[in-house]
Amino acid sequence: MKTHEQWTSKLGFILAAAGSAIGLGAIWKFPYMAGTNGGAIFFLLFILLTVFVGAPILIAEFLIGRNTQKDAITAYRKLAPGTKWHLLGTAGVVFSFILLSFYSVVGGWILSYLGRSVTGSLSNADYGQLFTDIIANPLEVVICQFIFIIMTIMVVKGGVQKGIERASKYMMPALFLLFVVLAIRSLTLEGAAAGVEFLLKPDFSAMTPETILLALGQAFFTLSVGISVMVTYASYLGKSENIVKSAFSVAGLNILICFLAGIVIFPAVFALGFEPGHGPGLVFVVLPAVFNELAFGGLFLFIFLVLLLFATLTSAFSILEIVVAALVKDEKEKRVKIAWISGILIFLVGVPSALSFGVFSDVQIFGKSIFDAADFLVSNIGLPLGALFISLFVGYRLPRKLVKEELLLGSNGMGFFFDIWYFSIRYVAPIAITVVFLQSIGLI
Ligand code: PHE
Repeated sequence: MKTHEQWTSKLGFILAAAGSAIGLGAIWKFPYMAGTNGGAIFFLLFILLTVFVGAPILIAEFLIGRNTQKDAITAYRKLAPGTKWHLLGTAGVVFSFILLSFYSVVGGWILSYLGRSVTGSLSNADYGQLFTDIIANPLEVVICQFIFIIMTIMVVKGGVQKGIERASKYMMPALFLLFVVLAIRSLTLEGAAAGVEFLLKPDFSAMTPETILLALGQAFFTLSVGISVMVTYASYLGKSENIVKSAFSVAGLNILICFLAGIVIFPAVFALGFEPGHGPGLVFVVLPAVFNELAFGGLFLFIFLVLLLFATLTSAFSILEIVVAALVKDEKEKRVKIAWISGILIFLVGVPSALSFGVFSDVQIFGKSIFDAADFLVSNIGLPLGALFISLFVGYRLPRKLVKEELLLGSNGMGFFFDIWYFSIRYVAPIAITVVFLQSIGLI
């Protein structure tokens, strides 16, 4: 039987979309990317690119999904029958597959930490060493990655309403509150000011084409745009909601969480004598040290890890959801089986990434570890190119009238905004992405 589910409420949709957006990108990746790429200048570029390029594309993805009420591949087929545009959906599914394969590795690290926080072995440790040991331990990383994938499958197989929406409703606000507490603690450490300056006072000389590409990739990554994940989520959204407001709520929340993550991490980095350019271990090394400085730190660290796990899971749900939705095609009875099969395949594809910090640490692909290569392929090639084609699709292929009507549904008079947005989707976004992309690979 074919039925297409719907979110039960507007808040449910925003929370689920924000749940997809807010995850490792904001909390784990943003601090270390900013840390290795000039701090404030990276943050500034990230905000500008989120507002002027990422958010317009988020609106475009919402529009495609809500208008068609279809999975990522069928949506393009329905809007542009008889053309090759459906390949854009297929590419989204393939990149999502690769994305979840390494995303789940980091999800696994969180589980490792969580296990240790229960046994109390996280207080007063040498956190740098601990992190290196954990990620190099083949059995531990693979088992934890596996558990993370199973948790993702368990929710996604039940469908969006039952699983995804309910989980997001409570976890997101709790995460936010704990972040505020942490920020206060971090800011009141002695020597914190240097970290605030690092995050907020841009040094323009640190800006290179590479920094701009990385910031663009980061903007797309945290907003979950470019691979039609948001097309899929918006397909469950009813016609009475306004997608522009939803998109700006998601983008705003996302920037806020990145800011909070930065304001928790960097003051602590400087105050406690760590290096901002520490790389992917930054959050895992610095945060336990901040908790050590708190009363009841062990307990708070445990709570934080649980919330981080949920933020990561809610993003993972959305990534698996696009794959599952595209294969299930509203034939509900297939859902459980497809969720299991695709989840397990993703796990298998991800095992080399999981091992790339230990047994496979010598394997290099274009000078990068397997994990970094997979991340680069998705974040800096798949997402920008996908976003480029999505902007061209909505800006040039779809009739302006259809686009305008869909965008204005549920609003009272936003005609002016439509013109600005339409301009950015037709010109600003495609030109910006093309220039940044070509520059970074050295073609212009
Ligand atoms: N936005 C998610 C995060 O920041 C990652 C993601 C990217 C999810 C692309 C879906 C699609 O963690």
